[in-house]
Amino acid sequence: MKKRVLAVTMAALMAASLTACGGASNVTTAAVSDTVAADKTEAADGTTGAEADKSSTEATGGKLVMATNAEFPPYEFHDGDKIVGIDVEIAQAIAGELGMELEIEDIAFDSIIPELVSGKADMGLAGITVTDERKQNVDFSDTYAAASQKIIVKEDSKLAGPDELAGVIVGVQLGTTGDIYVSDLEAEGTTVERYNKGFEAVQALSQGKIDAVVIDGEPAKTFVSQIEGLKILEESFTDEEYAIAVKKGNTELLDKINAALKTLRENGTLDEIVAKYITAE
Ligand code: ARG
Repeated sequence: MKKRVLAVTMAALMAASLTACGGASNVTTAAVSDTVAADKTEAADGTTGAEADKSSTEATGGKLVMATNAEFPPYEFHDGDKIVGIDVEIAQAIAGELGMELEIEDIAFDSIIPELVSGKADMGLAGITVTDERKQNVDFSDTYAAASQKIIVKEDSKLAGPDELAGVIVGVQLGTTGDIYVSDLEAEGTTVERYNKGFEAVQALSQGKIDAVVIDGEPAKTFVSQIEGLKILEESFTDEEYAIAVKKGNTELLDKINAALKTLRENGTLDEIVAKYITAE
């Protein structure tokens, strides 16, 4: 799976080897070549050991490693060599509340939960829908967004709604709720084409290789605005909610995340972040 290295700095490497605090920083040591020291690009060269040591102690709470899949605008996507979006800014704000330094690990969507289970990442923010099945493997924070699976078709398609997906070819992003729920229709003759990136599914649709794409509403809007000749059907396939996932049983971190989310909700930060990326209709 493709992992992006944004800015692995000397400082991050030094910090990882110099600090001896618990869980999260060990995680970082192991994953350092694949992770992002989001706010440390300026320290890329010429950092001395002493400076690195100092910067590592600035974030008193240590590192908070976020696992995501930056193929999901406006929640997480690439802007040049940076990873940006609603989830990234929420994670940054949470890290700020906790006095921790955020690192972003950009991995395949279906690797996020395993990465949390193995302890390589601390929290997953990736427009992750809360489902009972996922709750067997991870714990979820309070929800922070309402979402839905939408159906994208070609403008001239006769497909009019969720009831008509039986027997057609539907593209989804591998491991997403779109994949999970459309796969339930395989018994009714639906063919599911699974792509690593949602955008690849939308491209296949525009090339006429598949009949529809089922994907979350906000990325659907973004992708449809980027490719001509597509439309989003009015009726949603499912209604869902996004939350932050942590390793099962990590109530200490979960409580801190929920407290931070509460603060950010009450002081208006959450709304501000969303408004930066989603214009109200
Ligand atoms: N909400 C859907 C799910 O939880 C899709 C999320 C995909 N996110 C991503 N960053 N690619 O399965």
